[in-house]
Amino acid sequence: PVAHTADLVVFGGTGDLSMRKLLPALFHSDRDGRLAPETRIIALSRGGLTDADFRGKVDAEVRDQVPADDLALWQRFLGRLHHLTVDVGGQDRTGWQALSRLLAGHESRDRVFYLASPPMTFGPFCRELELAGLVTPDSRVVLEKPLGRDLPSAQLINDEVGAIFDEQQIFRIDHYLGKETVQNLLVLRFANAFLEPVWNSLWIDHVQITVAETVGTPGRRGYYDHAGALRDMVQNHLLQLLTLTAMESPARNDREAIRDEKVKVLQSLRPIVGTEVGRFTVRGQYAQAGDLPGYLAEPGSTPPTEDSGRVETFTAIRAEIRNWRWAGVPFYLRTGKRMPHRRSEIVVQFKDVPHSIFPGGAPNRLVLRLQPEEGIELHIMAKEPGAGEIMLKPVPMSLSFGKTFTTRVPDAYERLLTDVLAGNPTLFMRRDEVEAAWRWIDPILDAWQASPDLPEPYPAGTAGPASAHELLGRSGRAWHEEEA
Ligand code: BG6
Repeated sequence: PVAHTADLVVFGGTGDLSMRKLLPALFHSDRDGRLAPETRIIALSRGGLTDADFRGKVDAEVRDQVPADDLALWQRFLGRLHHLTVDVGGQDRTGWQALSRLLAGHESRDRVFYLASPPMTFGPFCRELELAGLVTPDSRVVLEKPLGRDLPSAQLINDEVGAIFDEQQIFRIDHYLGKETVQNLLVLRFANAFLEPVWNSLWIDHVQITVAETVGTPGRRGYYDHAGALRDMVQNHLLQLLTLTAMESPARNDREAIRDEKVKVLQSLRPIVGTEVGRFTVRGQYAQAGDLPGYLAEPGSTPPTEDSGRVETFTAIRAEIRNWRWAGVPFYLRTGKRMPHRRSEIVVQFKDVPHSIFPGGAPNRLVLRLQPEEGIELHIMAKEPGAGEIMLKPVPMSLSFGKTFTTRVPDAYERLLTDVLAGNPTLFMRRDEVEAAWRWIDPILDAWQASPDLPEPYPAGTAGPASAHELLGRSGRAWHEEEA
């Protein structure tokens, strides 16, 4: 389909996310012909830059991501960029007036306001837009995570933004939904017949969802001290992966049908409250090991405070879904910074065969790898070649997306920005989804807050604290890589 001409207004347009993700993704969309020729990208910040300053900054910071063959297209892309300085919630209206002038006469274009700024600015920013008369019936607003820090703050943001934009106009980003393998999970489950009959508690023992990162949090203390792994990763990314793994088949591949099924999963999560929190959740914080600094000594940040010592950089949770399909099947969630490998995966561990006629053997396991190399592996039992007694050996049947498809795998933001510009919200979180996720997270946060204990230390570069292993070990299970 031919892309509509759009005016994409990015608040926080000179920030880290914009430079690292949004502008490179927009450039790739442009290069692949997914931006209409007249589409403009208008960055707003408090920074006082001219268009030329901003183009120079983007050229300096992003050009190394541009292939040498594409430099002419890069110049054309830079020509789409504009910058305006705005004051949010203050007296100075000049920036907003300048934005009105820039947008005037272009009301028929798709108008997208992308808020890549801290969540407390979402409400005030939307009010400024309304005051300046810039919200047209078809305009859209994109909200970056984190959407609040608990249920009440998320509800407040949703109310404030909802007072100005209709739910259909609001696109809440979770960039994990833009990842190829995540979308492939739906295709794997609902475009193949063989899996669905065994995708339930009769055949599946448990599920593991891991997002492990090797990076620490240098320079991020200001944000991370008030976030922690539960808010930063579990409330959004890991719970999204859980919903896609566990949801029922939607009636159609459409925005409401898919999101209806996802929200039902979130609403079926068994609450973890009070003393159960200590049993079913683990929190850890990385400590100095060799050359790797501990969380409290990460450079480039403000000095640590009392909050810093209480922040979890690792968490593991045993979740349960209370419905017919999943009753009794634990979903183990785990994420951490400064782990030994960068690895995001969903591991579906099947039960053992009902009756074994061979010695040895291990249950089947399906591994959906999101990162670093996207692929799917089914671990099956095979006979080791030989004329003697039958010996079993687990072997992987692998699908590597990189080897199977030669087309470039787009970054998650490319997919999501294309969908925003096309007005398709399927891969964005609906209000009830976000709030259902917070409703499950809040009691865990409360219990952690009330506890005198600090997160368990784990040496930087290792797989989290000992309790993370016990969380599975006490029911005779183990994390995937510990067995591999
Ligand atoms: C972000 C978190 O949402 O996701 C970061 O704020 C995290 O802390 C990042 O590093 C991980 O994303 P990806 O795509 O690199 O797995």
